[in-house]
Amino acid sequence: MDDLRAWLDKVAGRGELKQVDGADWDLEIGCVTALNWARPNPPALLFDNILGYPRGYRVLTGVTSNARRTALTFNLKETTSGKEVIDMFRTSLKEWGQNAGKYPPEWVSSGPVLENVRRADGVDLLKFPAPKYHELDGGRYIGTGDAVITKDPETGDLNMGTYRIQVHDGKTLGLFSIPGKHGRMHYEKYRAAGKPCPIAVSFGHHPLVLRVAGMELPAGQEFNYVGSVAGEPMKVIREELTGLPVPADSEIVIAGFCPPDRSRPEGPFGEWSGYYASGESNAPIIEVERVYYRNDPIILGSPPGKAPSDTSYIRGVMLSALLHNDLEAAGVPDVRGVWMGEAASQMLVIVSIKQRYAGHAKQTAVLASQLARRGFWGRYVIVVDEDIDPTNMQEVLWALCTRSDPEKDIDIVRRCWSTIMDPIIRKPAQAYFNSRAIIDACKPFEWINEFPQEIRISPELVERVKAKWKGTI
Ligand SMILES: Cc1cc2nc3c(=O)[nH]c(=O)nc-3n(C[C@H](O)[C@H](O)[C@H](O)COP(=O)(O)O)c2cc1C
Repeated sequence: MDDLRAWLDKVAGRGELKQVDGADWDLEIGCVTALNWARPNPPALLFDNILGYPRGYRVLTGVTSNARRTALTFNLKETTSGKEVIDMFRTSLKEWGQNAGKYPPEWVSSGPVLENVRRADGVDLLKFPAPKYHELDGGRYIGTGDAVITKDPETGDLNMGTYRIQVHDGKTLGLFSIPGKHGRMHYEKYRAAGKPCPIAVSFGHHPLVLRVAGMELPAGQEFNYVGSVAGEPMKVIREELTGLPVPADSEIVIAGFCPPDRSRPEGPFGEWSGYYASGESNAPIIEVERVYYRNDPIILGSPPGKAPSDTSYIRGVMLSALLHNDLEAAGVPDVRGVWMGEAASQMLVIVSIKQRYAGHAKQTAVLASQLARRGFWGRYVIVVDEDIDPTNMQEVLWALCTRSDPEKDIDIVRRCWSTIMDPIIRKPAQAYFNSRAIIDACKPFEWINEFPQEIRISPELVERVKAKWKGTI
């Protein structure tokens, strides 16, 4: 499997990597990154000569913000079509999951990450150019595209999750992992037992590692999954302090413990919803005891923001493909398309179906409201007929307004799973619940054949007219 540098070479070879020299870690990297998203087909950005840091200490953003680099990252056929990426994803997700068992990580004794090793007093996290991305962020974030590695003390399951990590000082980090996430559950189990939670974090790796760590996979699957996508096992080193597996070719790895009895204020941080919604709150800390890094290390950044953002494109693709497969696995027939797009920060879920029986649309909507994002955030779910392209908002809105009657077609599901990151929940809150609106925007099943005929121009007429007014139309 390639390391991050080989991936960068490939991207540079395709003309999709831009070097930015001399930016300040304090807001400039974040601002340049955000301006880059707003461009059509944005390149990846590699920041070097960062103010106050030696040449070579770099930050990379925008790794998978288009179809081409997404396909490259996931070992898929090269394409520039977003629709094709989703279709390939759906098929491949099944294969990757089925084959994951064949690719347990391969333990190796050495790797580039061991080029520099710092222990105890030698640990200094300020050595790395962690950016302050957004103007109201509470500090510098070294971890936005990271892979946080923990082990379930009861089952032994290994987890790799992407959770944001703030730099508190040279030896202490803040970890923001919301309740329900596997890494958080591991930490809670140690905490309940009054024990420190062993933890290792990789801050720079092949983007596939980030995308898998940030994917809502069943417990314990991430390492195998990376191998399954790459078609070869992920090489890992046994970290000497915690015994946890860490990527052998990572750019930067830290290891240490989250103490059970200490936390520190973390945040605010500009989040994927487009707000600083979770504000500042007490979060677990990591007391760092080891740092490993390659010469000229690269921090892989994936800062969130109001869409379009670093993650909104790829999250839309991945979450839509996951939901489509989950609906099928739950037994919903004839799902024709799913889209959880960028504009609504993946909180608007569109599912198109070929209606087969009375209640089919409602069944789809209820399940989608609970399966989207594997449990939370599908705030609005709209189910449309198969003639509507779920990725085309114009068509979706037309179907919504012409095929649904609010009185009978909108239902509310209450007290669903939410989190502190939900902007609509006033904080502090005792518990984080939200509701879901599920909307049946399909033609009414019981009189579907009498529904008004819609205006569509037949292809034959189009052909005839185009031929007649060639050059004019
Ligand atoms: C770029 C990115 C940043 C993320 N940041 C956080 C975060 O700060 N906290 C969190 O709990 N989840 C965050 N997530 C979501 C989790 O990574 C995701 O839900 C993942 O499935 C968690 O892994 P787990 O299910 O093994 O816990 C982020 C995802 C991505 C892609």
